Amino acid sequence: MMFALMVEKASIKDLDKLFEIEGKCFGFEAFTKEQLAYLLFDRNNVSLIAKINGEIVGFIIGRINFNGGQTVGHVLTVDVSPKHRRKGVGLKLLTEIEKVFKERGVKICYLEAREDNFAALNLYQKKRYKRVKKLRNYYGYVHGIRFMKILA
Ligand SMILES: CC(C)(COP(=O)(O)OP(=O)(O)OC[C@H]1O[C@@H](n2cnc3c(N)ncnc32)[C@H](O)[C@@H]1OP(=O)(O)O)[C@@H](O)C(=O)NCCC(=O)NCCS
Repeated sequence: MMFALMVEKASIKDLDKLFEIEGKCFGFEAFTKEQLAYLLFDRNNVSLIAKINGEIVGFIIGRINFNGGQTVGHVLTVDVSPKHRRKGVGLKLLTEIEKVFKERGVKICYLEAREDNFAALNLYQKKRYKRVKKLRNYYGYVHGIRFMKILA
């Protein structure tokens, strides 16, 4: 099937749709609408949406931190609507946020996933992120895994 996948900057106007997708992705662990609004407004964050044929189907939010002279990127969440998974949307969102990070001087990017989230683990490995740390009980009873990538 032919479809046009586009990535652009998110706006506060997209909040309702992003909150709907966030709920489908994370259920009771989802960000609240207020948290999402706060993330969209924060100027140290990069928020991008993916659209297929004009419809928002996913988003990514990352943060830029300045740690001891180093500019570090941290992907806080990547969400793809269940109906639109396995179409390359997650990959495209990561590719695009890495580009924005690099434009803003980021040299290292971190992200995390639950150790049972095989979709995310595979996605990150496909984007050449390396496992750097096991995060014990990071998600309640479930352990997390931290990944890192040097943005060359
Ligand atoms: C993780 C997530 C973002 C992946 O998005 P997606 O758009 O479906 O991913 P893509 O289509 O770009 O997949 C890229 C690669 O990731 C891996 N992958 C994605 N989904 C997978 C799955 N369900 N099982 C195994 N591998 C998977 C595959 O290697 C895939 O490549 P392939 O389709 O050629 O095999 C999506 O499943 C999601 O939103 N999950 C809920 C939210 C979440 O857990 N986010 C990550 C933690 S913040």
